[in-house]
Amino acid sequence: MILAPLRGVTLRCFREVFADAIREAGFTEAVTPFVSAMPGVDPLAGRELAGGAAEGAIVVTPQFIGKDPESLRRCLRRVREAGFATADLNCGCPFPMVRRKGRGSGILRTPDVLRRMLEVGCEEMGEGRFSVKARLGVDAPDELERLMPILNEFPLRRLAVHARTARQMYAGECDWAAFELVASAAKMPVVANGDLPVAPVDVIGREAMVGRAFIRSLGEREDAGELLARYAEASRRELSGDRAVLGRLKELVAYWRPLPAWSRRWNAIKICRLLEEFLSVAIGAP
Ligand SMILES: Cc1cc2nc3c(=O)[nH]c(=O)nc-3n(C[C@H](O)[C@H](O)[C@H](O)COP(=O)(O)O)c2cc1C
Repeated sequence: MILAPLRGVTLRCFREVFADAIREAGFTEAVTPFVSAMPGVDPLAGRELAGGAAEGAIVVTPQFIGKDPESLRRCLRRVREAGFATADLNCGCPFPMVRRKGRGSGILRTPDVLRRMLEVGCEEMGEGRFSVKARLGVDAPDELERLMPILNEFPLRRLAVHARTARQMYAGECDWAAFELVASAAKMPVVANGDLPVAPVDVIGREAMVGRAFIRSLGEREDAGELLARYAEASRRELSGDRAVLGRLKELVAYWRPLPAWSRRWNAIKICRLLEEFLSVAIGAP
């Protein structure tokens, strides 16, 4: 299983604090939340990739978002120098502000740009080291399938497909029939993503990328409170100000809201304004 990138949640700091849980759940790789590949921006300047590739036992694959092939090239050279062996292109971000600018899922609407980005990605990372994460389409679930001749031109490591259109955002059902059409047209390994449980490959039937179900499952752990306290401590060291730490922790605990142990506590947690208050409600200690 591959840990899906969740911006604001599966950050480097999170992956370090929850490393044992990630490994125990069966993940062998994590894709980072997206980092922008834009002119003049150094991908190693940000917190996400600054520490390099050494991150415990799992493979960490930096994910980039952008539409400028030369910026992507520069970013990939930088991450390779930092020791990362793999990289991923975000072709799935559904937010209108991103996709209307031709980034994220928007790149599915500019096949020539997509082709250039894949070309640069495979050139810089080498055969079988550059991957793509995409939606089924922007509006229609057959858009990615129509682009498969372009993706098939390149020696991609894999194609992970969130089985929804960008228009759906995170709502509605996944379209697994459309996913299968993509998978059968693909020359590279195709990984399923979208509402999948934390389960071994033989249960799902193919390699899977899992995000929210894993994040939710952390709230069921006996040591959830302890891990949360460690996450607060580690976040305090890298963020300036308790408000930012509180925001980060709330974003995580929001996923635990449906769990019986957290649903009542959530009502108190969501209105907390101070980190101390949050910690005392969430883990019963100041
Ligand atoms: C809060 C949030 C942030 C996300 N950030 C990213 C991201 O940075 N890059 C990306 O490719 N997908 C991102 N996604 C999409 C997820 O990786 C994944 O495709 C989606 O949540 C469906 O999988 P799941 O149901 O297993 O969570 C994000 C999703 C959420 C909910």
